[in-house]
Amino acid sequence: MKETILIIGSNGQIGTELAIALRKKFGASSVITSDIRKPENLQSDEIFEQVNVLDKEGLKSLFVKHQPTQIYLLAAMLSAVGEQYPQKAWDLNMNGLLNVLDLCLVLGIKKVFWPSSIAVFGPHSPKSDTPQHCIMDPNSIYGISKLAGERLCEYYHTKYGLDIRSIRYPGVISWKTVPGGGTTDYAVHIFFEALAKGQYSSFLSADTALPMMYMEDAVRATIQLMDAPSENITIRSSYNLAGVSFTPAMLAQEIKKILPNFEMSYIEGDPRQAIADSWPQSINDEYARKDWNWSLTFDLPTMTKDMIDNLKNKQA
Ligand code: SER
Repeated sequence: MKETILIIGSNGQIGTELAIALRKKFGASSVITSDIRKPENLQSDEIFEQVNVLDKEGLKSLFVKHQPTQIYLLAAMLSAVGEQYPQKAWDLNMNGLLNVLDLCLVLGIKKVFWPSSIAVFGPHSPKSDTPQHCIMDPNSIYGISKLAGERLCEYYHTKYGLDIRSIRYPGVISWKTVPGGGTTDYAVHIFFEALAKGQYSSFLSADTALPMMYMEDAVRATIQLMDAPSENITIRSSYNLAGVSFTPAMLAQEIKKILPNFEMSYIEGDPRQAIADSWPQSINDEYARKDWNWSLTFDLPTMTKDMIDNLKNKQA
């Protein structure tokens, strides 16, 4: 069957790189990108449609026009910005998802990817080696919307047979595009500042451990999950993925091995600290390993080296 892929929210950190990977896999003419704003450097063979995921009629026209066989819904407001605009975050994250799920039923679109996050866990979830199934009491609006979204995904799968698949992404680290307003953003900004200024002030404390993942692994995981036979997918809420857990101090130490003059300092009192403190320090991903053969490629040293090499090349 010829696949037609629609990415909603394709200008963001994950969307940008997923679009590149999906074009490589399916061909540029099979991948439709869409976002609320036009991208800056659209290539002549790339297909883009401007759409607001909250505009259900606009979304419907897009679905009818392109008849996608797979949808990747990446439009969302992340944890830190979400705390500034809780109603908007809820509206975008929930109603955007509901619009897509409902239109899939109406128009017979069968396969969807929707991202969840480590933010679905909360202060009473186990902090280390956090299991797939445990107490989940998120206290950020982002985490609350993601947990509600997970329940909706499982509901639409069980009740309507929609083949929806999801990953609880850890903090994603990348050099092509920066993230927009998350709690884990420090682990991306640090690389840009290390090269530009030789120093970085972290808004998270030195010993705040969080699960992270290099973009190459995150994109590979997403495509691997979407390629897996449907009968192997035993988790229809969202899969835990462990990634690699580290603290700001550990990351600074690793950067110093390559840039010995790099200096790290810490700012106290940032509201993102409380969000980070409510999240797991490390994650158990046994279901992803068992169900679709997941394994990680990049650890902290290899990721750090690859980030710095690529950012240096980009600057040159
Ligand atoms: N990286 C996201 C954030 O920090 C978590 O999914 O909001």
